[in-house]
Amino acid sequence: VTPSLAVAAQGRTAPHGHVVDPQDAALAFDAGAYTTLTVTVDGQPVKVRAYKELCYVATPVAAAAQQSGIFGSTTIDNTRCGYQSMNVFVPESAFDDQRAPVYFAVNNGGWMASYIKASVNDGASYNSATSNVGAALKAGYVFVDVANRSRGLVGADGSSPGKAPAAAVDAKAAVRYLRLNDAVMPGSAERIVVNGTSGGGALSSILGAAGNSAEYDSYLAAIGAAGIDSKGHSTLRDDVFAVAAYCPITDLGNADTAYEWLYNVLGTRDATGSNATPEDAAEIAAGFPAYEKSLKLRDPDGSRLTADSMLDTIEKEVVRSAEAYMRADPANTVPALGATFDITSGGPGGSTTKSYVNDWIDVDNAADKVLSVDMAKYLTFVATQARLKTTPAFDAVGVHGNTTSGTETNLFGPYTQKYMNYTEWSWNHNDVAGDGSGLDDTGLTWDRYTAEKSTTLDDQIHLIDPMDFIGTNADTAPNWYVRNGTRDRDTSFIVSINLDRALEADKQVENVDYRLAWNQPHAGNYDVPEAMAWIAEVVE
Ligand code: DHB
Repeated sequence: VTPSLAVAAQGRTAPHGHVVDPQDAALAFDAGAYTTLTVTVDGQPVKVRAYKELCYVATPVAAAAQQSGIFGSTTIDNTRCGYQSMNVFVPESAFDDQRAPVYFAVNNGGWMASYIKASVNDGASYNSATSNVGAALKAGYVFVDVANRSRGLVGADGSSPGKAPAAAVDAKAAVRYLRLNDAVMPGSAERIVVNGTSGGGALSSILGAAGNSAEYDSYLAAIGAAGIDSKGHSTLRDDVFAVAAYCPITDLGNADTAYEWLYNVLGTRDATGSNATPEDAAEIAAGFPAYEKSLKLRDPDGSRLTADSMLDTIEKEVVRSAEAYMRADPANTVPALGATFDITSGGPGGSTTKSYVNDWIDVDNAADKVLSVDMAKYLTFVATQARLKTTPAFDAVGVHGNTTSGTETNLFGPYTQKYMNYTEWSWNHNDVAGDGSGLDDTGLTWDRYTAEKSTTLDDQIHLIDPMDFIGTNADTAPNWYVRNGTRDRDTSFIVSINLDRALEADKQVENVDYRLAWNQPHAGNYDVPEAMAWIAEVVE
């Protein structure tokens, strides 16, 4: 056995006598192949070894030369491995530390493909109170920044090779690379802490939920991931130690239903700009009670979480959020009822600040207590400070003639098809002829299509949904930190609440720190000291 193959055999669960695969040898890490950077964290210089663009698959995707996404246009060099690679940054305190935690940042913004970034650069300066990267380096963690295929990716052949579950498969492949090479890489692949926001929060959640599930093996084999033998069986693990997920855009198969239910149940939806009618919204929302019931979740007090109790549950979470905020610092106050306050909303186009009058929450700042919340006014506030998504929020393409919506519809379907509806209502209401999606093109209702034709579509929805894996025999991460801003309107609060309640009920999960983050919009890593303190505690 050559040294690199000996290395490749580390961390395996396979019995003795197992033959190491050629692709695993191709994925061997070269410990000497780094450049040394100097960055500044809190004014102190830190030397960092940078391993750039480590390709974590043996057969990376061939991408079209020109890609355009929500963050602009990118020119692709296919001699590099931009979509299935990661940058690894090792701070000097971890150069020889085999036990250092690995802070594994996924991207996947917009649920889109993410191309490898520069990440950490020589001369960069960080404040560890506001930068998760700076804080991770300061804490002596190995910082890994991961790219992945996902929707929007155009293949060299014009196809769409980023369809679900590509993002999840790639993230698993990256974990497998770290396990394969654990003995020669600084840090411990047994102490991976995954971090991501929004589309990345979703990717973190499925990665954390579905550890070692054999359902991904064929997808992993297809990309030449580490630890898949010649028979297609897994010989390496891809479970992770912890997840720190912000505003996960997940449970996509049910996100539309939950969204329309939440914003219509009290009549708070402003349907301006939507090409769907209030009747459409009501039809979509109608599926929510049965869905919520099917999850069989419970609130912390032991009572069942159902559509009937959901508004109370959200209200309690909002109260808990505001009280935690007030308690955290005497300087933290919630505006009085009737007081004007400013809200800054970020976004790709820059940030804007607008004034609002608090008409929904009444607190006693001195006692750190919430006195009352008006849920209808709260939901109206959420829906006005950043306009709600139009109906349907996540599966809008093909519905009422719409071919351009930016919703997740292009995450599903075969590589050869631009988009495919993945929810019952949108499938049955697709009226764009020739798009290959919906009752109109296939002649099959959703029920019949999914029963007769769509193992692939079913798999795609399932393999990116943590709710399907938490509480099963998949090796779900034992530690979770989940945050969702109290004014985030990119998905309903129901999604993260359900995720939390499912995690709380999973016996494999030891530590769940869930909270709505007070007055935070759709964003992440806004609470670096708190999140890092949580990580420090769980990795101890
Ligand atoms: C993101 C935001 C969305 O509204 C969405 O549907 C998917 C992803 C994001 O910010 O990553």
